[in-house]
Amino acid sequence: MIRELAALLMLAPCIDAAADSEQNNKVAWMLNCQGCHRADGGATGDAVPALSGTVAKFLSVPGGREYLIRVPGVAMAPMDDESIAELTNWMLREFDKENIPQDFNRYSADEVGALRKSPLGSEAGIVRAELIERMGNQNAPESDVNNANEHKKIN
Ligand code: HEC
Repeated sequence: MIRELAALLMLAPCIDAAADSEQNNKVAWMLNCQGCHRADGGATGDAVPALSGTVAKFLSVPGGREYLIRVPGVAMAPMDDESIAELTNWMLREFDKENIPQDFNRYSADEVGALRKSPLGSEAGIVRAELIERMGNQNAPESDVNNANEHKKIN
């Protein structure tokens, strides 16, 4: 019994830390993102695209991983690199878990810091459209072969 209690006490700070960071990410989302992206990551008319059910798809096309950080709302957010990395990892799980590629590596503060140095400006929409076109091509039968080859190269 004492041993079990001791084990529980040792676990408690870990559980709290996880709950804290979940809470931090939710608050950061409310303060910095929700005004445009809504509480549930839904679209706002034609102006703001939905994140829910789609945002993680960017991770499976070249350039998409970078885009998710370089997009102005993320790169320019008044948050430090670590908090943005955490928030982005949280956002992907929270709004689009199903589309996260199996080999996804979580964003780190260093990666975010480097990408934020070249934020997208008014060209964000063009970059976005190109990435979405790449996603479409991945579903096309003739490019499946290319994708299979690409995977072989990576692995
Ligand atoms: C002022 C409104 C606004 C705010 C605030 C904002 N965004 Fe965005 N976000 C947009 C718009 C508009 C786009 C579409 C790309 C573009 O034109 O910038 C976008 C695109 C994105 C994308 C890429 C997904 C896609 O489909 O293009 C991600 C990821 C994202 N935002 C996350 C966030 C996060 C995280 C925050 C908070 C730290 C945030 N945004 C704050 C308006 C906003």
